[in-house]
Amino acid sequence: MSTIESVLNETRIFPPSTEFSSHANLPSMDAYQTLCTQAQDDYLGFWKKQAEENLVWHKPFTQVLDESNLPFFKWFDDGELNISFNCLDRHLDTQPDKIAIIFEADDGQIIHSTYRDLHRRVCQFANGLKSLNIKKGDCVIIYMPMRIEAVVAMQACARIGAIHSVVFGGFSAKSLHERINDAGAVAVITADEQVRGGKNNHLKATVDEAILMEGTGSIKSVIIYQRTGNDIAFNAARDIWWHELVKDISTDCEPEWINAEHPLFTLYTSGSTGKPKGVQHSSAGYLLGTMVSMKWIFDYQPNDVFWCTADVGWITGHSYVAYGPLAMGATQVIFEGIPTYPDAGRFWKIIQDHKVTTFYTAPTAIRSLIKLGPNLPEQYDLSSLRLLGSVGEPINPEAWIWYYKKVGQSRCPIVDTWWQTETGCHMIAPAPGAVPLKPGSCTFPLPGIFAAIVDEAGQDVENGKGGFLVIKRPFPSQIRTLWGDPERFKKTYFPKDIGQGKYYLAGDSAYRDKDGYFWIMGRVDDVLNVSGHRLGTMEIESALAANPLVAEAAVVGKPHEIKGESVVAFVVLKGALPSGKEAIQIVDELRRWVVKEIGPIAKPEEIRFGENLPKTRSGKTMRRLLRTLARNEEITQDISTLENPAILEQLKQAIK
Ligand code: WT7
Repeated sequence: MSTIESVLNETRIFPPSTEFSSHANLPSMDAYQTLCTQAQDDYLGFWKKQAEENLVWHKPFTQVLDESNLPFFKWFDDGELNISFNCLDRHLDTQPDKIAIIFEADDGQIIHSTYRDLHRRVCQFANGLKSLNIKKGDCVIIYMPMRIEAVVAMQACARIGAIHSVVFGGFSAKSLHERINDAGAVAVITADEQVRGGKNNHLKATVDEAILMEGTGSIKSVIIYQRTGNDIAFNAARDIWWHELVKDISTDCEPEWINAEHPLFTLYTSGSTGKPKGVQHSSAGYLLGTMVSMKWIFDYQPNDVFWCTADVGWITGHSYVAYGPLAMGATQVIFEGIPTYPDAGRFWKIIQDHKVTTFYTAPTAIRSLIKLGPNLPEQYDLSSLRLLGSVGEPINPEAWIWYYKKVGQSRCPIVDTWWQTETGCHMIAPAPGAVPLKPGSCTFPLPGIFAAIVDEAGQDVENGKGGFLVIKRPFPSQIRTLWGDPERFKKTYFPKDIGQGKYYLAGDSAYRDKDGYFWIMGRVDDVLNVSGHRLGTMEIESALAANPLVAEAAVVGKPHEIKGESVVAFVVLKGALPSGKEAIQIVDELRRWVVKEIGPIAKPEEIRFGENLPKTRSGKTMRRLLRTLARNEEITQDISTLENPAILEQLKQAIK
């Protein structure tokens, strides 16, 4: 690890403009450093103050941090509050008529919802959930299109203390089934269909398929939001329409006061081994993280029109759509569709039409929009923008500069935000009024976040050297455990060898440059990052191996112009090595199979066949070698430990 050197040599620096800094929440490096020093000097006092200032407590906490059972940290534990109260009720006296959500549908239809309206909808739906006997601590799966109702569903769960688990609408019945089972969910909230890019996608039918699979007996109710009105199968014993559930139901719903540590949600993310991990978040600490990052990194101002393009199926859509912006009382845009429909100007048109000030998206979207229309932004009035953001993977300097010049018109700082499903909110990202930007660097940790780069023994490495990215002190928004698997939680995130089980291990490698800026280099495990989302090679491999034709499979990533990384699968079939037409047919079938098993995001870009996989004498698949093959690079690695060198030639052949 310590020999990893970065090949990036980015020297451009973009200091904040006086204009931006003069209005910013953190207007200078001094202001930023003052907060960092406060956190350094009195760590608990720092977070105590933040928690008191930002959250509305029903019963104040007396203890800031409980470290009695490491690494199961508890923050503000004896305090009581309600997350939906903190996102909605708190604004009812001060700004009931402020627009909370500007919703734009796939076809361009627009719906506005004020804080009063959103509160009413959430209360009503929460009462609906209660009428189905869904209670505090129950787990509810949300499998919804990007609509106001998705946020209502999440907030309503929070209101009654139910734990939601949102499953991205692009996931297959199989993935949905696994998540339902793992969580022991009692209900699914879904829609008849989802509409994206003019195409309908059956959500309810997928839910039915998932529930029919063996062992999904925990589901008592399926609530269906009517999006398109097309025919669906209806099981009267279990299914209920959303609009019927809330008909004539009260719009008053006293929030359930819960303990600060009560789980707000679980969200599944990929690991390098085994089944997806149910990342469990707390209530108070999590919400606090979203709020301080809204202030410090998104420099939230009351007149902002905030737009985070992420789907609520990912953590970004939890923290910066469903919770953070509402807790701040912001006006935000929610968009149902895709960036390229009806054309590649859609994002820019939305920014123009709704006068978006703060725009947050992923490098993969930026790269695809550069490709489809490098000069399209010029055709729109983007003068409302004042801040841009990026998340999900390192943003390459070319994309950064394009984003800065063409979208931000060289006026808007770009916040490159490094964080993870497990961290709940930004960890390393620039305070845009303070920190001079370097394209491709996420710059510095947030105040109160003690990020560092260490070696295998947990010792700090010097600037310029690569190592493991860790966070040395606990922080309020961090993952609390893995649902049902505390041992895996401990081993994965607080390993004994690095930092004696006290450091949070992110699983990324990174380095700091001579000025102390952080640069993320990528994952250290076998996890791919496709279009800004983590995919475990293991899950794709098991999916492939489950196909009747397949004996064994290994999956690696290779760099992809738009997606960042794409999936390459090396497959050993049970039958003979295929060639010609037959090989092409099997490739097609296997790609369709993976889509069905996991979802389109995991679809292999390329599949290659061999009579075997390259293995060491001890039987381990040599992934490094497969990565080299996938990139069509010369093999320079030592292959002397390889059991079966001849198959390398087979695996070099791409199926065209
Ligand atoms: C992994 C987390 C955080 C929400 C979206 C993805 C990579 C994320 C950046 C960034 C470089 C980044 C890391 C991280 N990543 N943001 N700004 N620069 N890499 O959440 O699916 O939990 O993935 O995404 O590798 O570990 P996630």
